[in-house]
Amino acid sequence: MFDKNIQRNWHPLKGQPLTEMDRKILAFQNKGKLCPSRDLIKTPEQIEGIRRAGVLNTAVLDMVAENIKAGMSTEAINTLVHNFTIEHGGIPAPLNYEGFPKSVCVSVNDVVCHGIPSEEEILQEGDIVNVDVTTILDGFFADASRMFIIGKTSPEKEKLVKVAKECLEIGMEAAHPYCFVGDIGNAIAKHAHKNGFTIVRDLCGHGTGNHFHEEPDVEHYGRKGTGMLLVPGMVFTIEPMVNMGDWEVVVDEEDGWQVYTEDYQPSAQWEHTFLMTEDGLEILTK
Ligand code: MF3
Ligand code: CO
Ligand code: CO
Repeated sequence: MFDKNIQRNWHPLKGQPLTEMDRKILAFQNKGKLCPSRDLIKTPEQIEGIRRAGVLNTAVLDMVAENIKAGMSTEAINTLVHNFTIEHGGIPAPLNYEGFPKSVCVSVNDVVCHGIPSEEEILQEGDIVNVDVTTILDGFFADASRMFIIGKTSPEKEKLVKVAKECLEIGMEAAHPYCFVGDIGNAIAKHAHKNGFTIVRDLCGHGTGNHFHEEPDVEHYGRKGTGMLLVPGMVFTIEPMVNMGDWEVVVDEEDGWQVYTEDYQPSAQWEHTFLMTEDGLEILTK
């Protein structure tokens, strides 16, 4: 029976024979699976543009890696990222994005994400710091973040940083063409829980490339076979936020941006932008 509750995002091109991809996607759609709309599948030209944005984004993060150290303010990281990006012909995407006031997110210890750089915040020995860089180049977006350990930290925080990185890698390996977003989240959450950590549920990865945030939502938990179907040509991030304590988070009431763990325990996150290919995910921000 025709089920009118199915969200029919995928439409074959009018007047043209069905492609192999049309057939595959329509089969999933007819089973009630959430499928991408055509505009989520990037053209070769768009992929090339996103690839180039990814190369610059990686260069920004490499530059941060060379400079980040104890005693420096998070504002100093913002200045470095801003100037380097502009000098290389890019635009720092966070600046003025929905009112975000700075060019990069710097999230220290119990700040989960969207940390706002500040002159007053000085990096200390033992801090774990997420630097989340998003670069626009010729209109295309790439988004990635890394953790940095300032000097030496506790074994627990070191483990948190390591497990969060493994979560990203495991999520990447769980993905293949015609899998679902839930397959990725399921693998990620299992790994975090096995290590005694939790996964933040309020924030997720996302489609990207033509805009900062596109469909689909890429949740870092969930059931296999749920969420959007992922097909070759889609570009999206995976960016698990892993908490040492409970998964609950709170948003700063004053600035409306900074996300903290509710229990003040530390959180770690790694992010890449990926292209789905015929053989699985390719990292565009390596
Ligand atoms: N880079 C973040 C992400 O991974 C988004 C930051 S939004 C900002 O999706 F406005 F805070 F920059
Ligand atoms: Co992102
Ligand atoms: Co990001």
